[in-house]
Amino acid sequence: MKIPQIKTERLLITIPKAEEACDILHYVNDNRMFHKEWDPPRTADYFTKEYWYEILQQNHNDFMNGHSAKFFIFDVERKNIIGHCNFSCFVRGCFQCCNLGFSLAENAQGQGFMYEALSAAITYVFDNLKLHRIQSNHLPHNYRSRNLLRRLGFVVEGYARDYLFINDGWQDHVLNSLSNPKITSI
Ligand SMILES: CC(C)(COP(=O)(O)OP(=O)(O)OC[C@H]1O[C@@H](n2cnc3c(N)ncnc32)[C@H](O)[C@@H]1OP(=O)(O)O)[C@@H](O)C(=O)NCCC(=O)NCCS
Repeated sequence: MKIPQIKTERLLITIPKAEEACDILHYVNDNRMFHKEWDPPRTADYFTKEYWYEILQQNHNDFMNGHSAKFFIFDVERKNIIGHCNFSCFVRGCFQCCNLGFSLAENAQGQGFMYEALSAAITYVFDNLKLHRIQSNHLPHNYRSRNLLRRLGFVVEGYARDYLFINDGWQDHVLNSLSNPKITSI
């Protein structure tokens, strides 16, 4: 399996090499305070080059082994990291499902970048990886995530209490999913 290089008008979406750990670390450090509200608590090693070197290697292996597709989103010239979108926890068999998480850099908000990236990445996941269902959940007050998921066609399926430990406590989440009508057999 080849690492995908998904191109859109303004973006390049791919799984970076371990050698790009420094660039990822810059992105993570630059957005540390902005992402805090939406992220699980991070230990100190999350903000080290060694951590990202290992994670990028693992992301590569997990993609090759069919477990996940954890993408970073670059500008189309691959100069700046704009965000990330993780398709994780692939389950095959009669489920054919994965989970989706995403975030943008603080200075990339409100320009349609995540919609552009996810439109292309979801097409890849449905058409190339042949998954049938993508699940993506958000905090009830995360209106930007809610609006994005609605625009992409995700539908609300429920409300889960104390679902994930985000920021500094267990937080309720709105549960959403998108199905791939092209998968008609397994
Ligand atoms: C959730 C998140 C990715 C959404 O980012 P976003 O920029 O609102 O998402 P989109 O790519 O859909 O962009 C839509 C916005 O761009 C604007 N826009 C500007 N140019 C545009 C274009 N060419 N095309 C489409 N939209 C455009 C839209 O009007 C809209 O802005 P508005 O909501 O102020 O009206 C972002 O807020 C984020 O990173 N949040 C922190 C992390 C997080 O919450 N992660 C998700 C956890 S569930």
